[in-house]
Amino acid sequence: MRSTFSPFCLWIPFLAGFTYANIINACPKGPQESSGPGKTIYVQTNEQQNSIVSIPIGHDGKLYGGMTTTTGGRGGDSIDGTTNKPAGPDALSSQGSVIVTDKYLFAVNAGSNTLSMFRIGETNSTHLYMVGKPAIVPGEFPVTVAASVKRDVVCVGYTGAKAGTSCASFTPEGLGQMKQAVEFDLGQTTPPKGPTNTLAQVFFTANDTRLITTVKGDPNTNKTGFVSVLLFKDSRSSTFESLDTRSSPSGTAVLFGGVNIPDTSDLFITDASFGATFLNLNLTTDKVSIQRKLVIEGQKATCWAAYSHARESVFVTDAAANRLIEISEDGSKIMSTLDLKNGDPGLIDIQISGRFVYALSPGNGTTPAAITVVDSFQGRQIQHFMLNKLGAGKRSQGMAIFE
Ligand SMILES: *[C@@H]1O[C@H](CO)[C@@H](O)[C@H](O)[C@H]1NC(C)=O
Ligand SMILES: *[C@@H]1O[C@H](CO)[C@@H](O)[C@H](O)[C@H]1NC(C)=O
Ligand SMILES: *[C@@H]1O[C@H](CO)[C@@H](O)[C@H](O)[C@H]1NC(C)=O
Ligand SMILES: *[C@@H]1O[C@H](CO)[C@@H](O)[C@H](O)[C@H]1NC(C)=O
Ligand SMILES: *[C@@H]1O[C@H](CO)[C@@H](O)[C@H](O)[C@H]1NC(C)=O
Repeated sequence: MRSTFSPFCLWIPFLAGFTYANIINACPKGPQESSGPGKTIYVQTNEQQNSIVSIPIGHDGKLYGGMTTTTGGRGGDSIDGTTNKPAGPDALSSQGSVIVTDKYLFAVNAGSNTLSMFRIGETNSTHLYMVGKPAIVPGEFPVTVAASVKRDVVCVGYTGAKAGTSCASFTPEGLGQMKQAVEFDLGQTTPPKGPTNTLAQVFFTANDTRLITTVKGDPNTNKTGFVSVLLFKDSRSSTFESLDTRSSPSGTAVLFGGVNIPDTSDLFITDASFGATFLNLNLTTDKVSIQRKLVIEGQKATCWAAYSHARESVFVTDAAANRLIEISEDGSKIMSTLDLKNGDPGLIDIQISGRFVYALSPGNGTTPAAITVVDSFQGRQIQHFMLNKLGAGKRSQGMAIFE
C-alpha cells in the first residue's frame, strides 16, 4: 500500500496533539500533486449501461472531480420482497460488487451475467482501461467479486435462478474462462427476490487459502443462512477442493458483509437482523462458529463492514439509518457512533483509507446519491460529495479504493 501523505503531514499530528484541523490545512489541498497514480475511489452506477465512477482522493482525504468509464455490461435490480418492486437503493443487496487489486479493478454486471476487468492507470489511478471483453459468468445475477493476487484468481458470486460461485484466472491479457466452484440451491428467480435468501459476499481469507461466501437466510420462512468455506487444493494452485463446508453459526439469521480480521482466522460479519457477529474459522474443520454476537440498538439493516487499520476497528453501515458505527475488532463493544446530519436516508457500501472513512448512500430517487467522507480520528464528517453529476443514482452499489 502506497501512502500519498507527505512525511510532513504524518509528522505534525505528534506535535500538534488534537488540533487536527490545522494539520489538514497544512497538507496540500489539490487532489494529486505528488507523483504516482494517486488514490482513487470507485463506485459502480449499476445503471442499464453500467459504469464505474472514479473520483480522485486528495491528500486531505476529500474527493475532487471524477469521471465515468462504461463496463460493457448492464446493471441489475433485485426485487424487494416486501414491495415486489425493483429494490434500489441497495439494488444488488451485496458487498463487494466492485473490487480492486494492486493493478486491476473488477466489476460485476448483474443484468448481463458478466464480469468486467480493468487495468488501473499507472500514472493516474482515476483512469481505467478495459482488459479484454467482459467474461461470461456461468450463472445468473452476479452481485459480488473477490480477487486473489497471490493466486491470480478471481471469483464471482451470483444469486439468481442459478446461484453459486465461479472462478477464473486472470493475467495482464484478461480473464480466463469462468468455472463453477460451488452451487447453491436457493430456489431463487432472476432477478432474485430479496434481500433475504440471497448471496451477500464472496471474499478470500486466511492468507488466501479459502474462499468464503456469505448467504443470507430468511427468518420469515425459517430458512437458515450460512457461511460457505471452500479450500484451495494446495498453497500455490488455483484449483479448489470439490466440496465446500457450510456452517450456520447459532443465533445468526441474515449474515451479510464480512471482513477477515488481519493476521487471524477470525471473521467479522454483519447480520442484518440484529447487528454484527465475531466468528472463528476453524482451519482444521473449516467450520465457522460464533464467538460473539453484538446487538446494535435501533438498527434496521446492518449490512456492510470495513476494517480500519488506523484504528484497529470495524466500521459498519445500515441501509436504513444515516449513521456510522465503529465496533472493536474483537466484536465486543461499540467504540463510537456518528449520527450524520446530511439528509441521506441510509448508507450501504463502505471503504476505509488511513484515517478516512467513505460511505455510499444511493439516496432514494428524491434524495440524490452521495459519498459521506468521515475523519475517524476527529469523529466528524469532512465532506458530503454528490454523485448525481457523475451519473450515479439510487441503483448505485459497490465501492473500492486504490491507494
Ligand atoms: C487524473 O485524472 C483525473 C480525471 O481525468 C483528473 O481530474 C486528475 O487531475 C488527474 N490527476 C493527475 C495527477 O493528473
Ligand atoms: C501466506 O502464504 C505465503 C505463501 O503462500 C507464505 O509464505 C506465508 O508464510 C503465509 N503466511 C501465513 C501467515 O500463513
Ligand atoms: C418457523 O418456525 C417457528 C418456530 O419453530 C414456527 O412457529 C413457524 O410456524 C415457522 N414458520 C414457517 C413459515 O415455517
Ligand atoms: C478445530 O476443530 C477441531 C475438531 O473439532 C478441534 O479439535 C480444535 O480444537 C478446533 N480448533 C480451534 C482453534 O477451535
Ligand atoms: C428519501 O429520503 C428522504 C430523507 O433523506 C425522505 O425525506 C424522503 O421521504 C425519501 N423519499 C422516498 C421516495 O422514499
